[in-house]
Amino acid sequence: MKLLALMTALALGAATPSVTILLREQAWMPDARARAFLEEPAECLASRERAVEIGRALFRSPAMLGGPAARAGLSCNACHSGGRRNPHFMLPELTNRAGAADVTSEWSSKVRGDGIVNPLDIPDLSGVTRRETFGRARDPSLEHFVHGVVVEEFQGPEPQAELTASIMAYLRALDEGECARGMAPVTLTSATDDVRRAVAAADGADAETARVVLLAAQDAMGRLVERLPAQRFARERRAFEGLSREIGAMRTADDVGVAMATALPGWRARFDAVAARVARRERQTYFNERTLARALRQP
Ligand code: HEC
Repeated sequence: MKLLALMTALALGAATPSVTILLREQAWMPDARARAFLEEPAECLASRERAVEIGRALFRSPAMLGGPAARAGLSCNACHSGGRRNPHFMLPELTNRAGAADVTSEWSSKVRGDGIVNPLDIPDLSGVTRRETFGRARDPSLEHFVHGVVVEEFQGPEPQAELTASIMAYLRALDEGECARGMAPVTLTSATDDVRRAVAAADGADAETARVVLLAAQDAMGRLVERLPAQRFARERRAFEGLSREIGAMRTADDVGVAMATALPGWRARFDAVAARVARRERQTYFNERTLARALRQP
């Protein structure tokens, strides 16, 4: 994971030697305090049906986006955190003020770049399916708008119909969901749940969809492993990395459905066991504000 963080830093050219890079989010939240990495706007989901869960996993996965954005680990959720908005978003390539992003930048897009820095406020997506037009260009079709975000703005691969439909299902469920408008903590439990939910959504999906969602699950495991200090949690990191490789093997199996049916019960039991081991020492992980602040050398 250290290597990934380093590659991210190099790809973005943003890191100076004095900054300790521990979490990929630091690339787009360079000045944020430790606390900002430990909470995100509360996600208000009305449903947990399979399409919504698939959409949720994709929304959090860089695999939906292409080009430099994906390499940096950006996902829809980096900007629209919890389906809302990330007030700390400050990726230097895309904005000169926090909570905004330039959706017509050369950095992320070959076709949309306009050569000027003109970031727009990142909108909250709750209630989005009730709006009549989308984005500054007033696109009347939400599906067309989202397709444009993926393929044109971020050079993502052309998504299959099933994937677009799942993202739409997620956006609709966000709209109908209700909860307090506060912040929700990012914890070991929320991070392990992200992995479990992605794996569950892949289990039983059609083969092509399952492959993309399993990749999202592997990415979620990468985010989890980053939160474990390398030396103190060497054993647990190795265990999670092994479990992630097993997901990789299922993803590339000839028959992904059979591979999941065979391997997942044992995989789940081992995943839960490692998670339980980490839970006993959660205070020593970067899910803890003091531990994270100290590691980031923030007073
Ligand atoms: C780099 C930050 C960033 C990322 C990543 C991003 N968005 Fe956005 N999004 C924005 C900004 C800024 C706008 C406002 C654009 C505009 O007004 O034209 C926006 C607008 C939208 C809107 C229209 C909302 C409205 O009220 O008009 C939708 C829907 C949306 N994004 C969905 C997505 C999805 C789905 C993804 C992932 C595939 C994604 N976004 C990735 C920053 C981002």
